[in-house]
Amino acid sequence: MSYDDAIKALSNDALKHVKDYSIIGLGSGRAATVLVKSLGKLIELKNLHIVGIPTSLQIKLTAEKVGIPLVDADQVDHIDVVFDGADQVDSEKFVIKGGGGALLRENILFSLAKKVIIMADKTKFVKNFTRTVPVEIHPLARTSVINSIEKLGGNVIIRTLDRGYPFFTENGNIILDCDFGTIKNPKVLTQKIKQTAGVLESGIFLKKPDIIYRAKTGGKFDVL
Ligand code: A5P
Repeated sequence: MSYDDAIKALSNDALKHVKDYSIIGLGSGRAATVLVKSLGKLIELKNLHIVGIPTSLQIKLTAEKVGIPLVDADQVDHIDVVFDGADQVDSEKFVIKGGGGALLRENILFSLAKKVIIMADKTKFVKNFTRTVPVEIHPLARTSVINSIEKLGGNVIIRTLDRGYPFFTENGNIILDCDFGTIKNPKVLTQKIKQTAGVLESGIFLKKPDIIYRAKTGGKFDVL
């Protein structure tokens, strides 16, 4: 069973949280893409009145293709449900996001959401975070933020594209991928990262999801 099939099985269950006349936040990445395709089918089948808010051009293109009407986050004062993937989920249910670079918009949607639903396969679940933390920063703050993150014990790499050009987010910023080894206190670390001027978002989100779907093998899943 492919990754997409595993996520499809749980996304059909996750879609029961979609009510008619609601505003739905659309995360970015593979899991969000599977969900958005299924959401498009559901809207058509049940003739639902749904408005979607995309977190990236990647998911916007997918949503347009399946006919989901879209608005921007600054046109609403709340979102009913956000569906998104995650790069890692720890035992306290904190998530790391930003592997695809959409963390700033994703976190704005998290903050507006009445319900956040995360979908990830079992390989993403760990006791303590071990992967790098993406940090979106203004390019002019590059040196000062790198220095402050190094003082926090992080090894920093500026995210680049394949041929070495810097990766720019859709907001015109750059991303530092910060290796802190095993992270025992994600909340405190995030608060410290965010203290330096020029840091726009940390990939460890302080708001925890309300529901987490964990894909297992053979189309089975747990709901945490
Ligand atoms: C986008 O920046 C990320 O936060 C994604 O949501 C995250 O990387 C999960 O993506 P996948 O579902 O593709 O693993």
